[in-house]
Amino acid sequence: MQLFVAIFLVSFAKGQPTPFIPLTSYSVLIGNDVLIPCTVSANSAATLIQWQFTSNSGSSISISQSTTKYTLVGDSTTTSNLTINSAALTDAGTYRCSATNSVGTGSDSATLTITGIAPNVTIPDTSLSVQKRQNITIACEVTDALPKETSVLWEFRANQGDSGTVISVDVNPTKYQGGTVAVPSLTILSVAASDEGYYTCIASNVFGEGRSEQAFLEATGNAAAVTVSPPSQSVLQKSTAIIQCIINNANPGVTEVLWEKISSGTTSLVIVTGRFNGSTPSLPNLIISDLQPSDQGTYYCSARNAIGTSRSSTGSNLIVTGAVPNNVQIVGATTQLVNLGGSLTLQCAGQGDPAPTLSWIFSSSTSDATTVGTGTTYSITNAQRTNGGTYVCRGTNSLGSTDSQGVTVDVQYTPIDARTDAQKSISAAVGSTISLVCAVDANPVARYEWYRSNLLVSIKREYTFALSSLALLGSYTCKATNSRGSVELRYTLFED
Ligand SMILES: *[C@@H]1O[C@H](CO)[C@@H](O)[C@H](O)[C@H]1NC(C)=O
Ligand SMILES: *[C@@H]1O[C@H](CO)[C@@H](O)[C@H](O)[C@H]1NC(C)=O
Ligand SMILES: *[C@@H]1O[C@H](CO)[C@@H](O)[C@H](O)[C@H]1NC(C)=O
Ligand SMILES: *[C@@H]1O[C@H](CO)[C@@H](O)[C@H](O)[C@H]1NC(C)=O
Repeated sequence: MQLFVAIFLVSFAKGQPTPFIPLTSYSVLIGNDVLIPCTVSANSAATLIQWQFTSNSGSSISISQSTTKYTLVGDSTTTSNLTINSAALTDAGTYRCSATNSVGTGSDSATLTITGIAPNVTIPDTSLSVQKRQNITIACEVTDALPKETSVLWEFRANQGDSGTVISVDVNPTKYQGGTVAVPSLTILSVAASDEGYYTCIASNVFGEGRSEQAFLEATGNAAAVTVSPPSQSVLQKSTAIIQCIINNANPGVTEVLWEKISSGTTSLVIVTGRFNGSTPSLPNLIISDLQPSDQGTYYCSARNAIGTSRSSTGSNLIVTGAVPNNVQIVGATTQLVNLGGSLTLQCAGQGDPAPTLSWIFSSSTSDATTVGTGTTYSITNAQRTNGGTYVCRGTNSLGSTDSQGVTVDVQYTPIDARTDAQKSISAAVGSTISLVCAVDANPVARYEWYRSNLLVSIKREYTFALSSLALLGSYTCKATNSRGSVELRYTLFED
């Protein structure tokens, strides 16, 4: 009251008007209206009251009538209420009320500050878990901001204590979506292990920034760990090979197994059909039956789950072994001799994988092919004529069989008298033609000598002559000789 009176007295003394603004500073929540009242007292009434606004940046304008921004209520002598509509940041500054009369001009001023609210940022779900390769959205809600937030960003920390890294959503649109003022929630596409960690959503306006609590994102799942076994194996042709695929740590489970084969530097996918089996999540092993030489190679197993595809780092080497019997042969000449009653051993050699078993097959003019023995040798003891014929050695293994060339066994013997009794004693009439046959069984074939009275008369098997006189009756001898010896056959020729 004391002050008021003093001012009043000074103004009154000078005679110029004295505007009065009740407060020296006003503040308003952005967007709201604010009233700055000005009352004027004067002994000689004011003729003009006006306002001047000087912004914080230093520019000035006069406010002399209502606009959409300003509402002026009052008169020119005692009152001018200035309402600043929908206060904006640019409305902050100094408002001066001036009143003029005939004596002069007096003024008062007040400052206006604009207030606001920093964003309130919340992550409703701060504990998230997602399978790698899946997408996830970390929700972020921004509320209360006055004015509306002008930026939204996200910080990532692999570990809680790390300094945060701002996620550059814009430069990585294939990795991130959202994280903007329009869509504050952050979507991470195809989550990787490196995305596991702590996320903070931050929104700002001119009055400050709001930070959410940290949300922890867990990235679950593992690609499979794949190995093959054995490192190497040799398997016989036509049999079954099993190559193991060992799958560990797959989370979620494996949905597909496939095999690749590298052979002579060429990689090919194994088509599991026909002789091939397995290669499924429940039976990942590769099973190859009726193994062929072309199956030889190095095999790699791959297993796929939702996280990815893993291939064994090393391969399983498959060596296809085996050969049908070959080089099967009987040792020695293609014809082998044995004396009747003597002995002979035939020997056979052969190769193959697995080693062949050997058997002996005999055939002759009087005998169909028959297996007569097994083993590397075949022995004939007390050789009989029936042992003469062709011998074949047969090598057999699981892959097949191969026959040697035949060897002829020749059972040889001294010529043997093979006459019937009628052939030994022959009646003949003088004047007839006589034919004597030296009937021997001989191997090798005998040569013949016919004698009469110790005189050689023929060297043919059949001695033919004319019985010209009785003197030609009597005894004839055929001597049959081969390399094994000789026999003498005596013939008697008597008169009819
Ligand atoms: C100006 O504002 C003051 C304070 O709110 C009020 O008392 C007065 O009636 C107003 N004057 C006019 C003319 O609106
Ligand atoms: C921020 O928003 C959340 C959720 O809407 C609310 O629970 C919390 O009280 C707010 N915080 C402030 C400071 O307004
Ligand atoms: C992840 O989001 C992208 C883009 O919207 C979409 O193409 C893809 O199919 C989604 N992936 C999964 C696993 O849902
Ligand atoms: C493949 O193996 C499975 C399981 O051992 C068996 O049931 C199936 O008959 C086999 N298929 C062929 C084509 O051999």
